Parts: sequence; C-alpha cells; structure tokens
Amino acid sequence: MENNQAYLKELNRWADETKKTLELANLPGSESWIEAISNWKTNVNHYLVNGREILTEDELQRLQQEGQRILDSLVNYYQMDSVPYGKHQLPPLPYSYDALEPYISEEIMRLHHDIHHKAYVEGLNKAEKALYLNLKDKSIVKHWLREQAYNGSGHNLHTIFWFNMTPKSTKYPIKELKQQLEKDFGSWERFRDLFSNVASSVEGVGWAVLLWNPRSGKLGIQSIEKHQLFQLADSIPLLVLDMWEHAYYLQYKTDKASYIKNWWNIVNWEDVNNRYLEASKLKWKLY
Ligand SMILES: [Fe+2]
Repeated sequence: MENNQAYLKELNRWADETKKTLELANLPGSESWIEAISNWKTNVNHYLVNGREILTEDELQRLQQEGQRILDSLVNYYQMDSVPYGKHQLPPLPYSYDALEPYISEEIMRLHHDIHHKAYVEGLNKAEKALYLNLKDKSIVKHWLREQAYNGSGHNLHTIFWFNMTPKSTKYPIKELKQQLEKDFGSWERFRDLFSNVASSVEGVGWAVLLWNPRSGKLGIQSIEKHQLFQLADSIPLLVLDMWEHAYYLQYKTDKASYIKNWWNIVNWEDVNNRYLEASKLKWKLY
C-alpha cells in the first residue's frame, strides 16, 4: 500500500506540473483541459487520501492511462509538436515502483526514476536555456554542448527504458519485430545472447542498445558509454538496457550477469515492436 501511495504522489505531481504549464501558457480554451486534469487529479487524490483502500496494479495502470489519454488529446488539440527549450518533464512511470519485483526492486526504481532521471531532466533544461535562450558568454558554449549531450541522452534513454519494461511481459519478441530479429540474427536466442554479451561488456556506466539502422535497413546492437559516447550515429534505439551501477547495484551488487538474465523477464515486447514499426518507416538510400 505504501508503494502505491508513492506512485499516486508521483501522478499527483505530474497533474500539478501539467496544470501549471497550461495556466502559464494561457492558451485559448485551456479552461476545459485544466478542468479535465483537475478531475483526474481528484480521482488520484481520492486514493491518496483514502490510503487504506485496496488499489490493484490494474487500477493504478488505469489511472496512469487515463492521465496519459488526457495529455495525448490535449497535445493533439493544440497541435503541439515540440517541447519548448528548457521545458522537458520527467514522465511518470507506466507502472508502480514495486511492479517489476522481484526482478528490479522498488528501492532501485524509486531512486532511479525520482532522483537520477529527474536530475537529467533538470540538467537538460538548464543546458537548453543556456544554449538557446540565454548564451551571453560565448566562450563556454562547449560546456553547455557537453551538458546537453550528457543530460539529453540520459533523459531520452531513460524514457525509452521505462516504457521498454512491463510486469506483464510476453517474455519473447512478438509480431514484426520477431520476424526481423530472426531475419537479421538467425534466431531469438542468438540475438538474446549477443545482446546480453554486449550488456555485460559495459564497464561501470553505460547502456546496451538494440537499434534500427536506416542506412543498412537492418537491426543492430551497440553499447553506449555514459549516455552519449561510443554510439552509432544515425540509428534509432528500440530496446535499451541500463547498465549503470545505479540500475542494479543495490539489489545485485557486482552480479551483473543475474541482473541481465532476470531483466529479460520484464521486457515489454509490445512497446519494442511499436518502436520498431515506427522506426523502420525510415529507410535511407542503402550503402
Ligand atoms: Fe539509469
């Protein structure tokens, strides 16, 4: 119950931030959207205040999806097609903090999302404001470019990572992605072993990535050092595994192999397939 309460507080914070952004933007017709978000927030608060009521994982997901639906239709309504510089937001997790147990502990998810990812969002906003809106001292442009690359990549990769996981995994790749994996790697097992090998080769801080390469029209695997180094330009990440120690150390200590092995149980293949379908629409002239 305590876990659900923390997640509800996170949804509540998200509602407040979205409402505040709308109020500040002062867009025509925004009153009805502010009202929709307020009503949704009342639902969230109902469970938050009456904390003793049983709230299942499904009910929590419905609350999250309802919030997401309001946000998606709002973006659609105003045809917002970009995030203004310096205005990125921490996305709420699409499940509660303890939903991925026993594979990833609640403690890790809480720190990872609320502390680490939040810091990347703040760092990215700061870098964008300095670079695009307020660059007075031109001699430090390199500093802000480094900050943008590090924090921006951190924000983007973590956002993919949260949605790449689910407590209701199919355990195996599905649909079009399954076919493409078999075409490019020979079999699911061969891909899994290669990806796991790449993940375990990451030293200290970095990622393993399954990517779509529009230049070759194929899937590929690449590791990333930190969030921004050692990666393959002009490719699109589909499935990412966080190999920073903050992602597993509290639970697995130095046993990286068990973290990687367990993680395959919570991959959201539906999400990875959706990313593949969108990404593979992009195909350059092959070279
Ligand atoms: Fe991370």
